[in-house]
Amino acid sequence: MRILVTGAGGQVGSEVVAELERRAAERRRSSPWRIVATTRAQLDVGSRDSVLAAVTTVEPQVIIHAAAWTAVDDSEGDPDRAFRVNALGTRHVAEAARLVGAHVCYLSTDYVFDGLSDRPYTEWDDPNPLSVYGRSKLAGERELGAASTIVRTGWVCGRNGQNMAKTVLRLASLQAILSFVDDQHGSPTSARDLAVKVVDLALWRRPGTFHGTNQGSTTWFGFAQEVLRLAGHDPERVVPIATADLDPPRPAPRPACSVLDNAALRLSGDELLPAWEESLARLVDDLLGE
Ligand SMILES: NC(=O)c1ccc[n+]([C@@H]2O[C@H](COP(=O)([O-])OP(=O)(O)OC[C@H]3O[C@@H](n4cnc5c(N)ncnc54)[C@H](OP(=O)(O)O)[C@@H]3O)[C@@H](O)[C@H]2O)c1
Repeated sequence: MRILVTGAGGQVGSEVVAELERRAAERRRSSPWRIVATTRAQLDVGSRDSVLAAVTTVEPQVIIHAAAWTAVDDSEGDPDRAFRVNALGTRHVAEAARLVGAHVCYLSTDYVFDGLSDRPYTEWDDPNPLSVYGRSKLAGERELGAASTIVRTGWVCGRNGQNMAKTVLRLASLQAILSFVDDQHGSPTSARDLAVKVVDLALWRRPGTFHGTNQGSTTWFGFAQEVLRLAGHDPERVVPIATADLDPPRPAPRPACSVLDNAALRLSGDELLPAWEESLARLVDDLLGE
């Protein structure tokens, strides 16, 4: 089996590679796997020539496409970069995959929704992104054929890269009071848990769109309180504010409620990811142990 991973230097991509390496080690004696992990420096998905050359050289059976320009606020000021990487880059991956018969698994986002729903979004709800980033990721989804796997996730935190869990821990060591918004709802998701599900779906070549998040939901205020509690700090040091009170305001609008019902997994009888609090506890332990 040959598997190519894009965005392997990112939060999710690095955990996908770790999960693949773990599985490959288990089966080394039967049929060996070749895992080709590519970072942006090694493979810019915005370059059609580079993607076609890499994929036709490796001839993977599966491509896990985790590369993206994920700078949600910066994307507002540079939509061309967002669309070049997230939409056109996915077109290149899809084209190259077709040439070698590879199955593509693409990571997408809860930000494809507008957040106006009063219930969690299923895979069959209509997207309506509010931001350039959300639009570029939805455009990426639309570059893929029906046989591909799309995994939408949200509020990802892992050991590698930048994320809100790390931000909360850093701020907790710098300031007495922390302010976090209490009017954006989502499901914090462990990069490691997500990677396990992504690898399963990719290797099973499961077609269609899946929502993959940890179970349960909270606000960034609730999330920050939980991180403080897990790290042994007083959670009352976090105060709730409204998005409208952020100073300076964030350039990109966020959905007020982007909780994803993992309906396709649930209705298929697939195992769901654990509760977000459980996975966050493991992550905070890891981060404090570093
Ligand atoms: N983080 C979240 O909360 C979240 C939520 C929903 C969905 N997602 C989706 O999950 C996937 C993984 O996100 P993540 O959290 O792992 O983000 P991340 O840590 O920012 O990783 C994305 C990786 O893609 C790389 N990249 C950027 N431009 C590229 C290019 N032109 N060619 C190749 N690689 C490029 C980045 O490299 P550099 O760092 O060198 O630029 C980075 O290593 C993305 O598709 C994202 O849209 C993430």
